[in-house]
Amino acid sequence: MNYIGSKLSLLDFLEKSIDKVAGKDYSVFCDFFAGTGAVGLHFKKQGHQVYANDVQYYSYVLNRHYIGNHRELTFKGLANEMPDLKKVDVGQRKNFVCDYLNGLKGVSGFIFKNYCLGGTQGQHYQRQYFSDENGQRCDAIRMKIENWKEQKKITDDEYYFLLTSLLESVDKQANTASVYGAFLKKLKQSAQKLFVLKPAQLIINEQSHKVFNEDINDLAGKIQGDVLYLDPPYNHRQYATNYHMLETIAKYDDPQIHGKTGLRDYESQKSLYCSRSKVKQAFKDLILKAKVKYIFLSYNNEGLMTPADVKEIMSLRGKYGVFTQEYGRFKADTDQKRDYKAKKTLEYLHYVICQ
Ligand SMILES: C[S@@+](CC[C@H](N)C(=O)[O-])C[C@H]1O[C@@H](n2cnc3c(N)ncnc32)[C@H](O)[C@@H]1O
Repeated sequence: MNYIGSKLSLLDFLEKSIDKVAGKDYSVFCDFFAGTGAVGLHFKKQGHQVYANDVQYYSYVLNRHYIGNHRELTFKGLANEMPDLKKVDVGQRKNFVCDYLNGLKGVSGFIFKNYCLGGTQGQHYQRQYFSDENGQRCDAIRMKIENWKEQKKITDDEYYFLLTSLLESVDKQANTASVYGAFLKKLKQSAQKLFVLKPAQLIINEQSHKVFNEDINDLAGKIQGDVLYLDPPYNHRQYATNYHMLETIAKYDDPQIHGKTGLRDYESQKSLYCSRSKVKQAFKDLILKAKVKYIFLSYNNEGLMTPADVKEIMSLRGKYGVFTQEYGRFKADTDQKRDYKAKKTLEYLHYVICQ
């Protein structure tokens, strides 16, 4: 997923830097601003036990699957609904179930009625986040997944796998420049393509992992770990508004929505890390209450806190240090037209060895 602040292309830098400070000698890796789960997943693959958290529910769903799921999924409870499933190799059942869902007929549900041109015609706001066909397809698949869960035909692990597969697949065909803060007037080429539900990657291992959906400042004092990796928002852009569509598909809770973009209420998910006047206090509170041996913070040179602010706060816990790396700026489809002063930003990885 093309996600603001994703660390997918910095994983090597993160791993090498963290190893230089903490060695390989740690077990629990906490990724508490987890977003897409890319960082936690990388450390899960290295054999660590991972605890992931994010305040957004769609991110909880992604992490509940990518991090939390660590055993093969059998879909035993769907045997009556899909008699042929029993003949399918266990490892292939994820594909089989996704193919079944791909065959469903579209339904005019919440996404179609509120976020597609066909569904919003004649209403005060006409929206086009998805093609009509993709909106109806998303509704049909989302409803079926919920229906299976309510009827206890799928386990929690299977439920989060299917939701993750849906979020990842539908996001690829969204009619946006990248985030959901706005939609494009005309259906762009990729949005015209029918979305296909593709099974999300499943990493199997022996470790059991934990996944949370809380504000980090509420969670941090309750959890013990070895390494705490922090990747907060750097600026005023709230993830709750930029990814409101994913939140609604994940929750599918028929929210009250408003305005041109059909935003849902996000009062309880407003991040203090996006507020110039509140970020330092929130960060200090977090650093002081974390129960870990090492804290690492990804932040760039355009963030709301200066490197000096970060150093002052992290030094309160022990020996401070920093690594840096040049990094390409986050790009939406339309960004090519913008005249950015700098195409590269400087990415910092601050750390403190806690005493
Ligand atoms: C820079 S992104 C993390 C990106 C992630 N490392 C990745 O590679 O996908 C920041 C994340 O912090 C989350 N967030 C913001 N404020 C938060 C808070 N107070 N508590 C927990 N999560 C928060 C956002 O929802 C967002 O997913």
